[in-house]
Amino acid sequence: MASINKLWCLSLLGFFVALGNAEWDSSLYASSDSFYPSPKISGSGGWEESLSKAQTWVSNLTLAEKVGLVTGSSGPCAGNIAPIERIGFGGLCLQDGPAAIRQALYASVFPAGIAAGASWDRGLINARGRYLGEEFRAKGSHIALAPVAGPLGRSPFGGRNWEGFATDPYLSGVAMEETVLGLQAAGVQATSKHYIGNEQETQRNPTTVNGTTIKSISSNIDDRTLHELYLWPFANAVRAGSASIMCSYNRLNQTYGCENSHTLNNLLKTELGFQGYVMSDWGATHSGVAAIEAGQDMDMPGTISFGDLSSGSFFGANITSAVNNRTLDVARLDDMVLRILTPYFHLHQDENFPPVDETTGSLNFFGAREADKIFKQGPLVDARGEGHADLIRELGAAGTVLLKNENNALPLSSPKNLAIFGNDASDASQGLYYFALFDAFSFPEFGTFAVGGGSGAGRFSYIVSPLEALKAQGQADSTLVQYILDNKYITKAGLESLAPVPDTCLVFLKSWATEGFDRLSLIAESNSTAVVAAVTSVCNNTIVVVHGPGPVIMPWADNPNVTAILAAHYPGEQTGNSIVDVLYGKTNPSGHLPYTIAKNADDYAYNLVNSSALLASTDPNAWQADFTEGQLTDYREFDAFNKSVAYEFGFGLSYTSFSLADLAVTYTFTSPLARTPSPATPIVPGGNAELWDVIASVSVTVANTGSVGGQTVPQLYISMPASVGAGTPVRVLRGFDKVMLEVGESKTVEFELMRRDLSYWDVVAQQWTLPSESIGVSVGFSSRDLVVSGSLTV
Ligand SMILES: *[C@@H]1O[C@H](CO)[C@@H](O)[C@H](O)[C@H]1NC(C)=O
Ligand SMILES: *[C@@H]1O[C@H](CO)[C@@H](O)[C@H](O)[C@H]1NC(C)=O
Ligand SMILES: *[C@@H]1O[C@H](CO)[C@@H](O)[C@H](O)[C@H]1NC(C)=O
Ligand SMILES: *[C@@H]1O[C@H](CO)[C@@H](O)[C@H](O)[C@H]1NC(C)=O
Ligand SMILES: *[C@@H]1O[C@H](CO)[C@@H](O)[C@H](O)[C@H]1NC(C)=O
Ligand SMILES: *[C@@H]1O[C@H](CO)[C@@H](O)[C@H](O)[C@H]1NC(C)=O
Ligand SMILES: *[C@@H]1O[C@H](CO)[C@@H](O)[C@H](O)[C@H]1NC(C)=O
Ligand SMILES: *[C@@H]1O[C@H](CO)[C@@H](O)[C@H](O)[C@H]1NC(C)=O
Ligand SMILES: *[C@@H]1O[C@H](CO)[C@@H](O)[C@H](O)[C@H]1NC(C)=O
Ligand SMILES: *[C@@H]1O[C@H](CO)[C@@H](O)[C@H](O)[C@H]1NC(C)=O
Repeated sequence: MASINKLWCLSLLGFFVALGNAEWDSSLYASSDSFYPSPKISGSGGWEESLSKAQTWVSNLTLAEKVGLVTGSSGPCAGNIAPIERIGFGGLCLQDGPAAIRQALYASVFPAGIAAGASWDRGLINARGRYLGEEFRAKGSHIALAPVAGPLGRSPFGGRNWEGFATDPYLSGVAMEETVLGLQAAGVQATSKHYIGNEQETQRNPTTVNGTTIKSISSNIDDRTLHELYLWPFANAVRAGSASIMCSYNRLNQTYGCENSHTLNNLLKTELGFQGYVMSDWGATHSGVAAIEAGQDMDMPGTISFGDLSSGSFFGANITSAVNNRTLDVARLDDMVLRILTPYFHLHQDENFPPVDETTGSLNFFGAREADKIFKQGPLVDARGEGHADLIRELGAAGTVLLKNENNALPLSSPKNLAIFGNDASDASQGLYYFALFDAFSFPEFGTFAVGGGSGAGRFSYIVSPLEALKAQGQADSTLVQYILDNKYITKAGLESLAPVPDTCLVFLKSWATEGFDRLSLIAESNSTAVVAAVTSVCNNTIVVVHGPGPVIMPWADNPNVTAILAAHYPGEQTGNSIVDVLYGKTNPSGHLPYTIAKNADDYAYNLVNSSALLASTDPNAWQADFTEGQLTDYREFDAFNKSVAYEFGFGLSYTSFSLADLAVTYTFTSPLARTPSPATPIVPGGNAELWDVIASVSVTVANTGSVGGQTVPQLYISMPASVGAGTPVRVLRGFDKVMLEVGESKTVEFELMRRDLSYWDVVAQQWTLPSESIGVSVGFSSRDLVVSGSLTV
């Protein structure tokens, strides 16, 4: 392997030089370090008993049965592990995805990850995970292919960023942890994905140009950035006990994500002490024994064919012959099986797990229906449990961010004459299933975006559209509700057909994003800028609602006739009710941006590799993404270069106002702390146990100084001392809380800081290390609205 990598390195040199980054030494990224053998499961973190149960089972399995447990087969679900009837094992049903059990009837579509992240609400995020888990379980699905921490959002153009929670690793990590806990509390296995560096859709998989296989993009990431940015939220997922981690399509330092012994054996299974199994993304396996020895444990979809991505499996019968001819030690196969069965027993999935819903196979996009009888089938069930729709409505509103509110435009109170504009306001016009829309261009022109496209979509049972909910509210208030939904008509004829000019104009804009493609523009679709111009030219009280996947550029934000702006994300099936709750003040908005909205798209580093020359290249290694910006993505980039933004990370308004005061630091250690955790301290799932010790806490007083009750999100940022070195962000998020305050009420909020929160990754020591100098600490209502500051020294 090493000598091949050297050759690649030579052929790549020209490419790296062409990028013109003097400091980027491409030879360093020409390979990932090797790390063998693959660590064995120990059961640490409370899985000991389940492991011993799994061991008893494994001792009774034939080689073929073991191979079957690690290799996907045809079946009714998106992924299937076949039953073993001899021992009463019912098989495993794996289903997408992060916002819904996608392949199901009578199931809920929840707010997308980015909407959940924008709520900054641990309780709601946990409830979302639990309700999702209940629906997977009701449908007989053991394994949810969720949640998402990769992509993290290196590029605002990333097509799948909306499936995850935030561009910030701390916020993403908290949301990962809550979601894993929620899903698994419902008895369903979480699959935290896509591990790791899966930051663009373009060339995420190999292509063929002129008969030559062109490899997937290689994410070339330095060690410190890997630890402090991209690995961070996965550490939370491992700590929460995520049953599975999905290895990703991309390469890392030239080696595929599913056969990278450094990221799998070393970072995940050794440093983070991961006890579960590594499952491939669909078709992401590129070798058999090599991937297995590098740490991959399960191949998906396995022995079925999936487009041109796979035919047969590198696992399956290939493992049988590799064990028989002694290329692969059966002990490694046993470990793969134990890693798969232990969480199955831990979550009691061997006891009364519901059968796979009989309608599941007919919804299977992968054409494996002929084999859909491999599982015991159960009747069609309605998975939408008590309270699920209410949670979706509440979280949809909680994930809506109020960005502008002039002249008390909001909340609305019984407007006389309300008009609604734009092709995002009404019902979906091409059916309720957005999965098949693996296309950057062909989203439906008419109809609201309540979720994005690809495997992160869901099959809606219904959508309450904004128009429908606003009409209902208008009827209750005797409001005149007029609407024009055709953007082409609006930009041509303006508000001509309305009489008289409305006192309140609501414009609904939408921005598309889907798996498989990166975004082509950050401006909302369908001539949105001209639509806003047409409405604002007549209506001086224009309120703009944007349904989108994250950053959407708002060239009209400073227009004085735009009196209010709401970033409503992809809120799921209750979208109309959620937005009415916010617009009419039934819910006081409390969402905060989990990313930055720049003034212009060019203000962001593009951070996406693509060109027509690359698309035509016949060099198998042509696609290289050098993460030269290191940790400086999103707000860390804007802060490092003092660039102004439209709305910064963490920003969000309320119908009331809040104050913040009295920052105080308390230390919770008695004797001086070692700079690094002791190597003698056990590794628990999540890493060295000391990393999770609270060593200091910071308190502040928050008060509601306005005239209505509401929730606020105080945020704690730290600034590392200069000694930590180049590439250190100006400040990073290390705490937040969501606090409900009635009028005049004040509360003390406490932020607990763990050793990990106050450490940086020392690449020489290969340890999380506490700086000796003082660390700056600020608390405020956004990354740029820092109200109180102090420092701490640990
Ligand atoms: C990639 O190479 C860099 C430079 O040697 C190293 O710091 C980093 O850990 C490597 N990353 C991976 C995923 O192998
Ligand atoms: C192996 O499985 C069979 C079938 O369930 C069972 O009868 C037998 O007792 C098992 N043997 C051991 C050693 O567990
Ligand atoms: C593809 O192959 C054809 C025929 O061999 C050749 O003429 C053409 O230049 C090749 N294109 C590229 C991009 O290499
Ligand atoms: C074994 O792996 C190869 C790829 O190396 C694949 O083409 C073949 O179909 C596999 N065998 C089986 C039985 O799946
Ligand atoms: C052993 O089997 C594997 C999988 O079929 C194959 O790739 C490998 O070449 C075989 N090795 C020997 C020495 O036969
Ligand atoms: C967008 O709106 C402008 C202004 O009305 C109009 O000139 C243009 O034709 C519209 N573009 C499209 C694609 O409809
Ligand atoms: C704002 O609206 C008024 C009508 O109330 C209009 O006269 C004016 O031109 C508009 N301003 C802008 C910047 O569109
Ligand atoms: C806004 O427009 C209304 C008429 O639609 C007008 O009565 C009002 O004075 C305008 N307000 C401002 C501040 O221009
Ligand atoms: C990638 O580049 C090609 C060729 O220039 C272009 O057609 C395509 O739209 C680009 N993709 C993205 C996501 O920008
Ligand atoms: C940004 O501003 C700070 C404080 O004003 C200053 O110290 C720093 O040098 C500036 N950085 C850049 C890149 O301009």
